[in-house]
Amino acid sequence: MTLVLVTGGTGHLGQDLVDRLVRDGHQVRVLARARQARADVEWAIGDLATGEGLPAALRGVHTVINAATHSPVAQRGGFRPVDFFKSPSDVDAEGTQRLLDLSQQAAVQHFLHVSIVGLDGASLPYARVKLAGERMVRESSLSWSVVRAMPFYYLLESMLAGLAWLPVWPVPKTVFNPVDTSDVADYLVRCAFDGGRRERAEIGGPDDLSLVEFARQYQEARGMRRRVVPIQLSDKTARGMGFVVSEGVRGRLSWRDWLQRRFAEVRAAA
Ligand SMILES: NC(=O)c1ccc[n+]([C@@H]2O[C@H](COP(=O)([O-])OP(=O)(O)OC[C@H]3O[C@@H](n4cnc5c(N)ncnc54)[C@H](OP(=O)(O)O)[C@@H]3O)[C@@H](O)[C@H]2O)c1
Repeated sequence: MTLVLVTGGTGHLGQDLVDRLVRDGHQVRVLARARQARADVEWAIGDLATGEGLPAALRGVHTVINAATHSPVAQRGGFRPVDFFKSPSDVDAEGTQRLLDLSQQAAVQHFLHVSIVGLDGASLPYARVKLAGERMVRESSLSWSVVRAMPFYYLLESMLAGLAWLPVWPVPKTVFNPVDTSDVADYLVRCAFDGGRRERAEIGGPDDLSLVEFARQYQEARGMRRRVVPIQLSDKTARGMGFVVSEGVRGRLSWRDWLQRRFAEVRAAA
């Protein structure tokens, strides 16, 4: 049985990933800043931003799946002006380098790094930090893989929820294909153990739709009505903001089905 260390195993993607690894019978160690409740994994307390706990977390590890990130936008579920000027690099760049160096010392056999589709044309500071992290992985002498994914549904939902107070929604017409973390997690598990390495096909969702359509389906699922005003962005601006269509592997869960599931859970909880 191989020991897999998952960084970011308490995050949105990471939890789905850990579920699948455990289900498939892998021995899983989760690197986290604080221990959480699940008892079917080993917990390694550590911090990528400081390096604390990393050597112990890597002891005996065969495969590292690096799914940690420090994204203020994802944490708060929306943009603030500051996000267009800076983004912390302590986890996604310096933390990645630290983890790579220590993985090498620990004789890790495979370092699988999670990243984002369309970084090369993107201009946001978070994208530049992610790109720097990817480069470090590619320059490492470890056996590595990089998997890029489209934006996750949970983040799209948070961003649209942030518009709820507005009577009129200005929304770009740009087409893209966000994806669910469950599909990305399935794909990552495949990439971790199928023997493939280096640049893996990127993964996006099943539907190429304009953001206007994603917003309309969201309103329908929530039972709300706001006027959506489509905005035309230039190709360059759209790419700069990460709006691209990923032509790689396709996830199966549609936005419409994800919304149905999500709001059924919300109604059940209420
Ligand atoms: N969100 C998207 O739309 C999207 C799209 C494509 C790719 N990705 C990539 O997918 C990966 C996961 O994203 P996500 O949205 O699922 O992330 P998330 O929900 O924001 O979770 C972030 C994870 O990183 C951990 N973390 C943060 N700072 C840390 C530190 N200093 N030391 C150790 N762990 C730390 C967090 O652990 P704590 O429990 O300690 O907070 C948490 O488990 C990232 O590589 C991201 O760039 C995201």
